[in-house]
Amino acid sequence: VIITQGKYVASAVKPEQYPENDLPEIVFIGRSNVGKSSLINSLTRVNNLARVSSQPGKTQTINFFEVGVKIEEVEGRKAFYLVDLPGYGYAKTGKEKRKIWSKFIEEYFLTSPRLQFVCQLIDIRHDPMASDVEMFEWLVKNNIPVLIVATKADKIGKNARQKNIAAIKRKLGIAEVPVLPYSSLKNEGRSDLLDVIGDSLVE
Ligand code: GTP
Ligand code: MG
Repeated sequence: VIITQGKYVASAVKPEQYPENDLPEIVFIGRSNVGKSSLINSLTRVNNLARVSSQPGKTQTINFFEVGVKIEEVEGRKAFYLVDLPGYGYAKTGKEKRKIWSKFIEEYFLTSPRLQFVCQLIDIRHDPMASDVEMFEWLVKNNIPVLIVATKADKIGKNARQKNIAAIKRKLGIAEVPVLPYSSLKNEGRSDLLDVIGDSLVE
């Protein structure tokens, strides 16, 4: 799978603001600061496509990026959206704002007709927190396919990586399901994730 373009399309907080064009959507969700926006930039190789910050709470709307890919296996081209969401679980986000975010994110998940799958991001250095487990269980309960991506893989050594991935699986109760390590800094995991995306688009 080769990315041919990546561009910003729209920001939304309600369905009327979703883009008109009905393309398949791949969504990134996770705690604030886990690296959702960075992963979108790494995947598309377009710097600053999604805004990144060392301060949690940077992304505050549902942001749609249109991406074009060439899929060698089927000699085809496809377009789809990568969707960046505000993070959850950040204490300094006011209670009101958190309620509003969770309302429009839930609305998005339950109304989006072309949702392919969700990448739920978890920092590879830490065990999933209660909010991560809740999010994961909510997605599963609503029959939304989830891929767990363990972010910031460059921050730990190879041995710790295996150990921490096992801990993430244990905590989520998904012993048999693959968890994909990713480093946006080093673009590690990029071709694996592109393969998963390519497969989901040609199915
Ligand atoms: P919100 O929009 O606040 O929900 O955060 P986010 O999940 O979009 O995180 P963002 O991509 O803005 O990254 C947060 C911080 O983590 C930034 O300082 C990034 O540079 C850093 N970061 C993200 N991914 C990686 C990674 O793979 N490796 C390292 N070392 N740092 C990363
Ligand atoms: Mg962000």
